[in-house]
Amino acid sequence: MTAALTIEGLVRRFGGVTALAGVDLTVERGQTRALIGPNGSGKSTLINCVSAVDRWDEGSITVDGRPVQGRNSAAAARRGIARTFQTLRLFDDMTVIENVMVAMHHTRGYGVLSAVALMPRYRRAEARMRGEAMALLRRVGVAEDADREAGTLPYGHRRLVEIARALALQPSLLLLDEPAAGMNDSETKRLAELVSSLGDDTDLSILVVEHNMEFVASVAAQVTVLDNGRIIAEGTPAEVREHPDVLRAYLGSEEIV
Ligand SMILES: Nc1ncnc2c1ncn2[C@@H]1O[C@H](COP(=O)(O)OP(=O)(O)OP(=O)(O)O)[C@@H](O)[C@H]1O
Ligand SMILES: [Mg+2]
Repeated sequence: MTAALTIEGLVRRFGGVTALAGVDLTVERGQTRALIGPNGSGKSTLINCVSAVDRWDEGSITVDGRPVQGRNSAAAARRGIARTFQTLRLFDDMTVIENVMVAMHHTRGYGVLSAVALMPRYRRAEARMRGEAMALLRRVGVAEDADREAGTLPYGHRRLVEIARALALQPSLLLLDEPAAGMNDSETKRLAELVSSLGDDTDLSILVVEHNMEFVASVAAQVTVLDNGRIIAEGTPAEVREHPDVLRAYLGSEEIV
């Protein structure tokens, strides 16, 4: 069986900085894997490469057995690779439900022209998409915010909208970059429940970057640890927490909690 995600020998350099120095990583189909590591260790760079937002210098990325080409995030999204960003990227002056529906438009080929023409076929599709978007907002727990402008939502809710928008792409691979950042304890707990429930879907594979070890332990059975662009440990949350190289990498930092 092909893995959902296979990364081999991935190298990404930014001038003199080697953000990824030869990373091998696999996410099996239906698996939730966490990716942790100190600030600047290359976690977001890896997510950017897999989602084809960025390009890389060496190595290969394969999703569902097919290679990913760098700097073609639209193509990656159409192939079911969806992500959220460490720094929120919602359309603040659009409503919450519109933010989710935009993602559906992008992948389902309903362009601006048909919207202008207001063809019956388009209107039917629009109504169906609205229903699906509403169901996704309910799933992540922000249905009551559907008609509010996204920019007016509390931070934690906006992060959930981003997840709904990623799910609107009907992904087979979901990449979450610090989804709990800026959330309070109860929001983080609810998010962990949501990510766990997403993880129950055997067709959905998840790679989640997060600093909060309690969150990591509750959503992922397997953890990969990056430091300086290299993998220094892999294992269960309990195993990596005790790993001497991991303890050394985090020494003096408050990031691992
Ligand atoms: N666009 C860029 N241009 C130059 N350097 C970059 C760029 N993006 C990342 N880097 C560098 O690559 C390294 C890895 O950065 P990255 O953002 O992937 O780390 P991270 O593990 O996500 O950190 P954090 O926990 O702070 O989010 C850092 O040294 C960073 O400064
Ligand atoms: Mg990052």
